[in-house]
Amino acid sequence: MKIHEGVQKRHQEMTNWRRLLHSQPELAFHEKWTSDFVADKLESFGLSIHRGFAGTGVVATLKNGEGPSIGLRADMDALPLMEKNRFEHRSQNEGKMHACGHDGHTTMLLGAAAELAESPNFRGTVHFIFQPAEEGGGGGNVMVREGLFEKFPVDAVYGMHNWPGMEPGEIGVLTGPVLAANDAFDLEILGKGGHAAMPDLSIDPILTASQAVVALQSLVSRSINPLEAAVVTVTQIHAGDAYNVIPDSVKLCGSIRTFKSEIRENVHAGMKRIAEGVAAGFGAKAELKIKQGYPATINSVEESRRAASAATKVIGKEKVILDALPSTGSEDFSYMLQARPGCYIWLGNGNRGGGCLLHNPHYDFNDEILPIGTSYWISLVEQELPLT
Ligand code: NI
Repeated sequence: MKIHEGVQKRHQEMTNWRRLLHSQPELAFHEKWTSDFVADKLESFGLSIHRGFAGTGVVATLKNGEGPSIGLRADMDALPLMEKNRFEHRSQNEGKMHACGHDGHTTMLLGAAAELAESPNFRGTVHFIFQPAEEGGGGGNVMVREGLFEKFPVDAVYGMHNWPGMEPGEIGVLTGPVLAANDAFDLEILGKGGHAAMPDLSIDPILTASQAVVALQSLVSRSINPLEAAVVTVTQIHAGDAYNVIPDSVKLCGSIRTFKSEIRENVHAGMKRIAEGVAAGFGAKAELKIKQGYPATINSVEESRRAASAATKVIGKEKVILDALPSTGSEDFSYMLQARPGCYIWLGNGNRGGGCLLHNPHYDFNDEILPIGTSYWISLVEQELPLT
């Protein structure tokens, strides 16, 4: 392990920042305190900053001579969750919690900015991008649409996320899809209500919906190449409120995850075909609405190789995990990767707090990995923007 010397000296200070951020969680697009904290720190490092992208977004620029330009991105928002931890730095904002480690991501990027501003051993330009609203609001997408990369041109953009279950000191670098596209659906089955005792005079939407739930499961098993991945999960069924009444309609809701756009399109089309076909078979009607969420997060080949190389310089070859499976979670860094080549890595967070995963009320970011992630950022900058 080769932790950057300057970063090691900042470990305690970064731990303090991280715990302070943890105690002050704010939700998507309302990261006002957090944004002020980030901006104040960046200015204290002597960096020029730009505020206002996607409301609370902050971008800091560090230019050291002529050379290439890269973007490094962290997310700042927390989750609507009641924290169950009792330690001193627990959430002070009831019902809000940094349960995904964005407090750690923000801290590591601040640490890298501090160290690079003090000892700029690179030639070129680094843009430090602090975005709001990763958890559902698509703050990354808003920044891109508002002209992030026109105002701050980059040759490539890089992101990272802590990863519980992966050991501290390990970094996962995947080439191609790393996280899934995330779509939600509402499916309404419209029948004809009536007396429970006289079903022949009704069109029973509950029986139709039951068949539809089962039939939808055939999409992944029968219509998608077995070597590809897709998930169709029905998470809600709403209908009826009496023992003796067949309701008029049933509402189903759920989630769709895919990695490739052609699979995504096939699943959407297949869901419509199955829902309408099953409903027609029972004399009912189906109305399917799909709300497209974040696209798949896809690392470009060359930048993944570069990210793995930068990680290797910090943690050694054997700790860089290249063969992990992608996750069916999702990320709005995907929009930045649609706009520019780049790579999103996983930073091992270990198994603290009983090994709880992200979005768990007992989760906490592991402060021991702050110097590892920060050293990775510096290693990447010094590799991509070499002095000579
Ligand atoms: Ni997250």
